[in-house]
Amino acid sequence: MKLAPVVSAAMFVAAVAAGWISTGQPLRLHWTSTDPSSPPTAALALPDRVIALDTLRAGFVTYQRHCAGCHGEAGDGRGPSGIGLSPPPRNFTRGAFKFAAVPAGSLPRDEDLARTIRHGLAGTAMPAWSLGERELDAVVQYLKTFSPRWRRETAPSASEVATAPDPWRDDPAGAVREGERIYHREALCATCHPAYTADAPARPEPRAPVAHLEAAYGTWVLSPDFRRHPMRAGRSVDDLHRAIAFGLGGTPMPTWQGALPDRSLWALAYYVRSLTPSP
Ligand code: HEC
Ligand code: HEC
Repeated sequence: MKLAPVVSAAMFVAAVAAGWISTGQPLRLHWTSTDPSSPPTAALALPDRVIALDTLRAGFVTYQRHCAGCHGEAGDGRGPSGIGLSPPPRNFTRGAFKFAAVPAGSLPRDEDLARTIRHGLAGTAMPAWSLGERELDAVVQYLKTFSPRWRRETAPSASEVATAPDPWRDDPAGAVREGERIYHREALCATCHPAYTADAPARPEPRAPVAHLEAAYGTWVLSPDFRRHPMRAGRSVDDLHRAIAFGLGGTPMPTWQGALPDRSLWALAYYVRSLTPSP
């Protein structure tokens, strides 16, 4: 029948207009239920709660609009705008995250993901997003559809990740001095990061940062030089304390909480902050 090609061409145009078919990509129909880049069709059962289908659908819309360009429609970190970025956009299908107030390697809490999305990651392509509370929560929940880890494991509870309050508020200069000592003499942060004092025990090139290959992310990373590299998760004392106490998941940056007294962790945060240039 003559009409058929015309009809299917019209349907194709309508499908593109409706956003069902992504142009510029290998042609892919979005309504197959196994395709993670199609709208969710069922609620998501986590070990401790069920995420409603409505929430997932709202998160899907936000994700495809704002995030898929870099993180990929299927969450694999391979969106067209992410090509060549260093560091590359996170691949959510691996279920590995760096910037969270949880012992390195645990799943992040919702508030960790929300913080990263709200503030972005300084010095990387990850922008800060001003989304409404509901939209932010929906996209956080939607990210959990990408990796099976979320269906098996739970993030630690608030009480499991509680930290001691900052004891140095009234003595920031004392904290910097104590932090400098712990950094170079006790915790030996300069085994990976640069040393900042001439007389510290040092590796052969104490000023050069060490590069590591990260299995969890499949990329190389540098242990940052605090004088030069932007602190991705923020440079406030609280932000730095979080990074130091909990470490960066899936990277060589260890969890120091438990290994050092709380007072030392806070002192290190003040010291590292004193090294970072103001923006
Ligand atoms: C312009 C590119 C770009 C866009 C758009 C983008 N991201 Fe990112 N995102 C990145 C990059 C790059 C990283 C990795 C940074 C790193 O490894 O230090 C990242 C990392 C992340 C992380 C991982 C944080 C961690 O703890 O490991 C989350 C979560 C995230 N993005 C969520 C989102 C969400 C949600 C959106 C949409 C609202 C979004 N991103 C949009 C580039 C982008
Ligand atoms: C075994 C190596 C290693 C040791 C020891 C180490 N770090 Fe790190 N650290 C890293 C790596 C690697 C990164 C970056 C990881 C990445 O980019 O994925 C990092 C990142 C950081 C960050 C950056 C967070 C951000 O927001 O960008 C801070 C702060 C930090 N380390 C502080 C410290 C302090 C303080 C010590 C000592 C108590 C220390 N590190 C010891 C390897 C190490």
